[in-house]
Amino acid sequence: MKISFSALNIPSSGAIVTGVKEGGALTASAKDLDKLTAGALKRAIAASRFTGGKGQTLEILAPAGVKNSRVLLVGLGKGLDELAQQSLGGAICAHMNKVGEKAAHLLLDAGATDLANAAAQVGFGAKLKNYRYDLYRTKEGKEKKPSLATLNIHLKSAATARKQFADLDAVADGVYFTRDLVSAPPNDLYPVSFAEKAKELTALGVKVEILNEKQMAKLGMGSLLGVGQGSARESRIVVMQWNGAARSKKPIAFVGKGVTFDTGGISLKPGAGMEEMKWDMGGAGTVTGLMKALAGRKAKANVVGLIGLVENMPDGNAQRPGDVVKSMSGQTIEVINTDAEGRLVLADALWYTQERFKPQFMVDLATLTGAIIVSLGNEHAGLFSNDDVLSERLSAAGNATGEKVWRMPLDDAYDKMINSDIADMKNIGGRWAGSITAAQFLLRFVNKTPWAHLDIAGMAWSSKDADTVPKGGTGYGVRLLDRLVRDNYEG
Ligand code: BES
Ligand code: MN
Ligand code: ZN
Repeated sequence: MKISFSALNIPSSGAIVTGVKEGGALTASAKDLDKLTAGALKRAIAASRFTGGKGQTLEILAPAGVKNSRVLLVGLGKGLDELAQQSLGGAICAHMNKVGEKAAHLLLDAGATDLANAAAQVGFGAKLKNYRYDLYRTKEGKEKKPSLATLNIHLKSAATARKQFADLDAVADGVYFTRDLVSAPPNDLYPVSFAEKAKELTALGVKVEILNEKQMAKLGMGSLLGVGQGSARESRIVVMQWNGAARSKKPIAFVGKGVTFDTGGISLKPGAGMEEMKWDMGGAGTVTGLMKALAGRKAKANVVGLIGLVENMPDGNAQRPGDVVKSMSGQTIEVINTDAEGRLVLADALWYTQERFKPQFMVDLATLTGAIIVSLGNEHAGLFSNDDVLSERLSAAGNATGEKVWRMPLDDAYDKMINSDIADMKNIGGRWAGSITAAQFLLRFVNKTPWAHLDIAGMAWSSKDADTVPKGGTGYGVRLLDRLVRDNYEG
């Protein structure tokens, strides 16, 4: 779908979308259109329950007086904020695809204080919603394919809107990249092939390095390597660097859990629903999409994205419950449950990031625990942090983008729960507070660096459609972290 911006005029074909204010007052464009159609808009409103409330729509098909296929009236309520503007874009896109429309024109002359930004946000929402994972469909009929080919937003300040949209478009491309990775089947997306996908970012000016098992062994990453040792697929670490600021500026770092398939290992998961564990690389997917977004909009920041890629499988060489592994930090870990593998991957990934880059802060993302879904459902990611400023900034970015986080506690009392009888720690706590003991485990691999951990197990995948996010891989976290960077770490 092509999204464009042009001057305010009534187009001679395609669908027209125009706004109606709370109480049913027509916007200027809607008034013009009402005249051209001999009052069709007002009559339709009078004949319906449509009152111009936020989120309401009313469709008038093939009105006399104009050549357009349809007019879609959309409620502006008392004005739309940025997230509602994005939702409007998503709703227009979903509607037009449902009815088989090819070209849609939005006439935008009211409903927000900054119309240029509103237009850009509508375009952003439409693009986010228009995503579809189509790679493996071979026989879908044309009538089932999305129809909308162009969305043209008409407004006075089209040039400003176009410019503002360019950055959002880059962010959406990052979200698409994440969704593609998260949705990919695990026979095709495994550590080596994931690393190759990440390598594509070189074209945008991202420096991409790939560490193989031999290099990781030399670095002493026994914790990460232990997870991958039961798989026929080799493990990888990918280091992505975007340098958009002065060389003297310390980087910020994002670290992702990339378990391309999590069977649980020898602590095997039950069969039902195991296919979902293809998206256990969601954290790595988000970090990779974020790097694409930041490079795509040429963010003025130095950013490291590091992902730990492994497949957790139970073959004859697999790690056993009871094994003790030595992490790169030198700390030893008793592996009580091979299904608590994400933290083992992140332990070495975090330590390496901290030692090599000495970042201003680290944020890790991981589909780490089922317990976080019990706590927060699919509405917030769990946020765990040793730093109040970073936490506040993440919360603010979450509220601004609608990708929300909720802070959870860390405490010595939880830390004690992962002490081991024979090693420095064990990889699970008890039955309770599973997300917190997982976070406490990660904290043992962070020194003084400000750090935040986002448990995105409830967020990386969605089984139902939302306003701007189709079901499937959501791309959660790309918008959130892009915003964190934009609002706090550029310029
Ligand atoms: N990848 C899972 C967590 C998960 C569960 C993500 C459901 C998405 C949806 C993780 O590796 C895991 O298996 N965690 C265990 C930890 C337990 C063994 C302490 C869990 O949550 O059950
Ligand atoms: Mn697991
Ligand atoms: Zn896992």
